[in-house]
Amino acid sequence: MFDFHYFTPTKVIFGKNTELQTAALIREFGGKKVLIHYGGGSVIRSGLLKRVTDNLEEAGIDYVTLGGAVPNPRLGLVYEGIELCKKEGVDFLLAVGGGSAIDSAKAIGYGVANEGDVWDFYDYKRKVTGCLPLGVILTIAATGSEMSNSSVITKEDGLIKRGCSSDFGRPRFAIMNPELTMTLPDYQTACGCTDIMMHTMERYFTNGGNMEITDAIAEGLLRIVMKNAEILVKDPKNYDARAEVMWAGSLSHNGLTGCGSDGGDWMTHKLEHELGGLYDVAHGAGLAAVWGSWARYVCDSCLPRFKRFAVHVMGVEEKGSDKEIALKGIEALEDFFRRIKMPTNLRELGVTTSEEDMKTMAHKCAAGLGGSGGSAKVLHEEDMLAIYKASL
Ligand code: NZQ
Ligand code: ZN
Repeated sequence: MFDFHYFTPTKVIFGKNTELQTAALIREFGGKKVLIHYGGGSVIRSGLLKRVTDNLEEAGIDYVTLGGAVPNPRLGLVYEGIELCKKEGVDFLLAVGGGSAIDSAKAIGYGVANEGDVWDFYDYKRKVTGCLPLGVILTIAATGSEMSNSSVITKEDGLIKRGCSSDFGRPRFAIMNPELTMTLPDYQTACGCTDIMMHTMERYFTNGGNMEITDAIAEGLLRIVMKNAEILVKDPKNYDARAEVMWAGSLSHNGLTGCGSDGGDWMTHKLEHELGGLYDVAHGAGLAAVWGSWARYVCDSCLPRFKRFAVHVMGVEEKGSDKEIALKGIEALEDFFRRIKMPTNLRELGVTTSEEDMKTMAHKCAAGLGGSGGSAKVLHEEDMLAIYKASL
């Protein structure tokens, strides 16, 4: 087992009506002037934003609002948020929504607390040294951003989607009411379940570390997310299934399922971020579309893990060669994606790409990684291109 740091400072408030504790939590963490940051309007339509602003007003907490964080959130709005916070003297950020609103809020927090251009942190030019304190009310179980140290932003110029990881960005609190996710379109629910699984799988498919307890947690989490994702296809209002998935989303990306590993692989995410930047696809669907091609490409270099995944997670019988078992596991996961109506290739994702665009994505992906990345198998630009081509 490798040495590790496990740091999860976020206070989690989980359950029905927990959004009514927002003002008390902001007070607890010292917030006096709040920026409420949200997405394209689902929180207005559901009435959540009104409930939250009423809650703050009753408690006498001053706030300003900034909506408009789109899926694959944009740098332009981050700059706008930074200016607004400085002008209004904001000392606390409240993200109400999904990964996009939360990530955008983290970027705003970095921009206010650090001098210079916030994009430098996403361009790996400088390290974050602080962040405005941030609280979250989560409306979609997916990214785990409510407890994670990462934020992913897209720069409009060049459509460059990049992540920045810093413990300064970990939210102070996360309010998680599974009922808030019941207004999600089925597609977004499935995208979220896929992303949740993928955060654990990125940490699981590695060539480093012996980590029995982490493996057991990871495998249990994956089985439970699959089971409940299928329940939600038929019964989207099932509270317990919503709750299981929501908690899994946080645990899958707060570091727990990577303790003792070499840091994980992360190449499916890196490949998807290029797709998200260029074609603006939903993150979870993009992951599902490239995973199978990635898995088949790297399988030989990480065979024991793929075999273990097939048997322990996908329930494949231990019959035949290790490679045969591993491939059955990959097929079984793709079958699961189909059952929850996720794509398993770029065509099903709705992306018509070209040789030139695939070369551009592979080039940008490799460049963003300093040339290569991955643990299951170290991939270079030509490998990334081959995976994009295999996922057509
Ligand atoms: O914008 P609104 O109107 O709120 O609508 C959203 C959006 O259209 C909608 N939605 C969210 N909650 C809803 C709802 N609609 C109805 N009812 C609700 N309760 O769902 C759509 C997707 O929302 P978004 O926030 O974009 O989804 P998600 O949480 O999947 O976030 C995706 C972004 O996070 C990044 C992704 O790359 C992508 O940019 N990631 C962030 C990570 C992190 N910070 O740790 C890790 C991930 O790997 C990921 O890269
Ligand atoms: Zn993800």
